Amino acid sequence: MAGLLDRFSLAGRVAVVTGASSGLGVAFAHGLAEAGADLVLGARRADRLNDTRKLVEDAGRRAIAVLTDVSSPRDCEALVDAATAEFGRVDILVNNAGIGTAVPAIRETPEQFERVIDVNLNGCFWMAQACGRVMLPGSSIINISSVLGLTTAGLPQAAYAASKAGLIGLTRDLAQQWSGRRGIRVNALAPGFFASEMTDQYKPGYLDQRLQRVPLGRLGDPTELAAAVVFLASDAAGYVTGQTLAVDGGMTIA
Ligand SMILES: NC(=O)c1ccc[n+]([C@@H]2O[C@H](COP(=O)([O-])OP(=O)(O)OC[C@H]3O[C@@H](n4cnc5c(N)ncnc54)[C@H](OP(=O)(O)O)[C@@H]3O)[C@@H](O)[C@H]2O)c1
Repeated sequence: MAGLLDRFSLAGRVAVVTGASSGLGVAFAHGLAEAGADLVLGARRADRLNDTRKLVEDAGRRAIAVLTDVSSPRDCEALVDAATAEFGRVDILVNNAGIGTAVPAIRETPEQFERVIDVNLNGCFWMAQACGRVMLPGSSIINISSVLGLTTAGLPQAAYAASKAGLIGLTRDLAQQWSGRRGIRVNALAPGFFASEMTDQYKPGYLDQRLQRVPLGRLGDPTELAAAVVFLASDAAGYVTGQTLAVDGGMTIA
């Protein structure tokens, strides 16, 4: 049997990462490549996706970029078709594409609310469904939820919180449907606060105030989340399914 550290290796695996054009998605793509996987990168901005493709290639792995709007089931199927055409398989899906909004509930329009659910929740289901159809036993799906799926953080975020809590429910159900029957493990990560284009939108002072509730007292580094993605994607997590792992500096216990 392979040694313990060998079980973290993703050599020979093919990983799909959505939202790979900025922020955490770039760190996930790079981390998975460092662990040995080839990458299929999905998002809507071609230039930024190509930057991530180059980053993966510089790490010595192969990558393709596929323009994808995850709120379109057809786009999600096309992404998986491109993956199987190029690499012949999909072993790992990181459902990371997401949008963050903060709108007082009284003023939130149907279009605003629906768009967040369409991207953050429905998009993850379309991607999981398209990947689940071709994944072989031993595969792994990682849904990027949020601490906002578990708690509140002082902003009016009904749509975002609902989408991220819904994603935890989706994780649980896909895990019970697919873990035994199809050999596909399904887990979620609940990140706390990490610097990204999403968190750049916060008002000055907001993060400093929230960090007072974080036992580790600092923002997370995206590599600390990528390490958790590599763990859940790999055979090292072979007995872990249906779980939501908070990577939040302790925020949800404070
Ligand atoms: N940063 C944090 O502290 C934090 C905390 C908890 C959870 N999260 C979650 O982590 C994930 C990544 O967020 P981030 O912080 O890295 O934010 P980000 O820098 O804004 O990245 C979001 C990514 O999602 C993509 N995206 C947005 N709408 C899309 C769509 N319709 N179809 C395909 N891709 C789409 C964007 O690419 P395009 O614009 O090119 O399509 C971008 O690559 C999100 O799900 C977010 O909710 C982040």
